[in-house]
Amino acid sequence: MTKESLNILDIGFGTGVLTGKLYDAGHHITGLDFSDKMIQIAEEKMPNARLIQWDLTNGFPDQILAAKYDYIVSTYALHHFTDAYKVQLLEQVLPTLKKEGKLLIGDVSFQTEEDHNRCRDRYKDVWDYDEYYFVFEEIKKRLAGNKQIEYTQLSHCGGVFALTPQT
Ligand SMILES: C[S@@+](CC[C@H](N)C(=O)[O-])C[C@H]1O[C@@H](n2cnc3c(N)ncnc32)[C@H](O)[C@@H]1O
Repeated sequence: MTKESLNILDIGFGTGVLTGKLYDAGHHITGLDFSDKMIQIAEEKMPNARLIQWDLTNGFPDQILAAKYDYIVSTYALHHFTDAYKVQLLEQVLPTLKKEGKLLIGDVSFQTEEDHNRCRDRYKDVWDYDEYYFVFEEIKKRLAGNKQIEYTQLSHCGGVFALTPQT
């Protein structure tokens, strides 16, 4: 990131572990989360951020869709949604990225379905079967149109997606 002050949206900011750092670095933070408790903690860390209480099962609110962002980030929040709904959310929010903007997602994730299943089988006693972990090849197939999507696996069960709309 550059030293200029960027407009950043965090989807499911939680206690602000990630965004708190971006806030401290001087960036303009907008965030969505549905939890009272999380918002209360995050507000203490980021008193001037625009933190909106919102349930993402309703898509994104108009006030989010009316703005433009340099970066959209989300960590460990989107695995609560099915792949179909993840993609619906991403398609809805991607047009809010500025021309050179980027969406970054960090989460429990795998390159292939085989990698996902191998990990699930290995950790079958502690696996959370109510969550829907990202599989890069599946998400890529489902995303429409002209988008550049890259995935970096960072551990045996986690990684980062970088998505850029192509114009
Ligand atoms: C595991 S926490 C991650 C928080 C933060 N991004 C981090 O990396 O520390 C997941 C967050 O997603 C939020 N979340 C889960 N489902 C949600 C929903 N339907 N709408 C809005 N927020 C949701 C939770 O309240 C929680 O703060």
